[in-house]
Amino acid sequence: MALERTLILVKPDGVERRLVGTIIGRIESKGLSLVGLKMLQVTPELSQQHYAEHVEKPFYPELEAFITSGPVVAMVVEGPEAISVMRTLMGSTNARQSAPGTIRGDFGSSRQMNLIHGSDGPESAVREIGIYFTPAEIVAAPQLLASVLWAADEAS
Ligand code: RTP
Ligand code: MG
Repeated sequence: MALERTLILVKPDGVERRLVGTIIGRIESKGLSLVGLKMLQVTPELSQQHYAEHVEKPFYPELEAFITSGPVVAMVVEGPEAISVMRTLMGSTNARQSAPGTIRGDFGSSRQMNLIHGSDGPESAVREIGIYFTPAEIVAAPQLLASVLWAADEAS
């Protein structure tokens, strides 16, 4: 099983609503490792780079206005199958339809203001981590608890 890294953002609505600690708590409680963490203001240029696949879509102007409306917390999260594990923890895009127990399902009620971003595949994870973090800003994951979190063949 693949040890993966994924790019996670607590979006401006999550920061504004003081849900940063709650969201990070869910990620940590799941057993995933934080290996990069920063707070920043997304600019229109950064938004266009990050959401390149959506720039031509009708909802993009609203998405850009939203994601640049306040600070975000950016994270690199590591663990076995971290990309899909995080997408499951997040819930589906429209928070009104996200399952209870997920971050969006428990705290959100909007399709746009859905609290959290997570990379949707291995290629986007590499691309997005490179947009938000330099290699020097990513640390080695803590290892002391690894043996009680995963079997060796799950985290190689
Ligand atoms: P994200 O990229 O932020 O993790 O969200 P996602 O994969 O679940 O959803 P995606 O389709 O990539 O859309 C990116 C973000 O754009 C906003 N959105 N608005 N008005 C609309 O139809 C619409 N659709 C998407 C949401 O903030 C969504 O998370
Ligand atoms: Mg997406």
